[in-house]
Amino acid sequence: RTVYVNGDYLPEDQATVSVFDRGFLMADGVYEVVSVLGGKLIDFEGHMIRLKRSLSELSIANPLSDDDYLEAHRALVDRNAITDGLVYLQVTRGNPGDRDFAYPPAETAPTVVMFTQAKPGLADAPAARSGWSVVSVPDLRWGRRDIKTVQLLYPSMAKMEAKARGADDAWMVEEGRVTEGTSNNAYIVRGNTIITRELSHDILHGITRAAVLRFAREAQMQVEERSFTIEEAQSADEAFVTSASAFVMPVVRIDGVPVGQGGVGPVATRLREIYLEESL
Ligand code: PDD
Repeated sequence: RTVYVNGDYLPEDQATVSVFDRGFLMADGVYEVVSVLGGKLIDFEGHMIRLKRSLSELSIANPLSDDDYLEAHRALVDRNAITDGLVYLQVTRGNPGDRDFAYPPAETAPTVVMFTQAKPGLADAPAARSGWSVVSVPDLRWGRRDIKTVQLLYPSMAKMEAKARGADDAWMVEEGRVTEGTSNNAYIVRGNTIITRELSHDILHGITRAAVLRFAREAQMQVEERSFTIEEAQSADEAFVTSASAFVMPVVRIDGVPVGQGGVGPVATRLREIYLEESL
């Protein structure tokens, strides 16, 4: 693979970042994941708007212009001949030359890294036909989940626990109510109504979430932005998650209990179709 580091395009085994990089020592950085379908970047502008917000919430100066980000995304897709897959982008507070809790001087250059992951047949994932099973775990993350930081240890632990329990993912629960999946937003369906947690510091403001809610409203579905419990989800008609890499993914079991009829439902199927059609 060719990867991007601070303006250079390099073979992946020649790309390096300092051991003092704040991203490495402090998880002091943010990231974005943009899907590629048929060579096209999906929801690119939305991801750039959120990137700039994440950087600004952490007082990291945005190192590149929108045009630079777009050019680098396109160059990586091109050079790595990505038809279906994703582009990962990470911006950290850079290399202060030593370890210190205080932020380095503002003129310290952020570190920008980008790479691609090829995922042939991404839009056609067999899991979308069978659906995911999820298990609930307590949400033990920090209180600013709206900032897309690279601090992903707890979601990784939750993913491992899900796998150990024979499931595909975990839904995190705080004060008795579902926040989100390890790397996706969570939804339930009751009749013609789609229910998903309201935006706050408690969850990531998903770019796919915004698009899917817009398509749902355009398709005359009702949208309720509120939290729900695991019990309400288990007794809902359908459940699903959304993210840039999973698009709309049906959830068919929660803590071992089948949701609705226990199969992939019509609303999740339809929203997935609409999302993919509108994106392509
Ligand atoms: N994750 N919630 C969390 C905690 C996430 O990490 C993500 C995305 C989402 C969905 O956001 P979006 O629709 O903008 O992708 C929700 C990415 C895909 C990842 O970490 O790989």
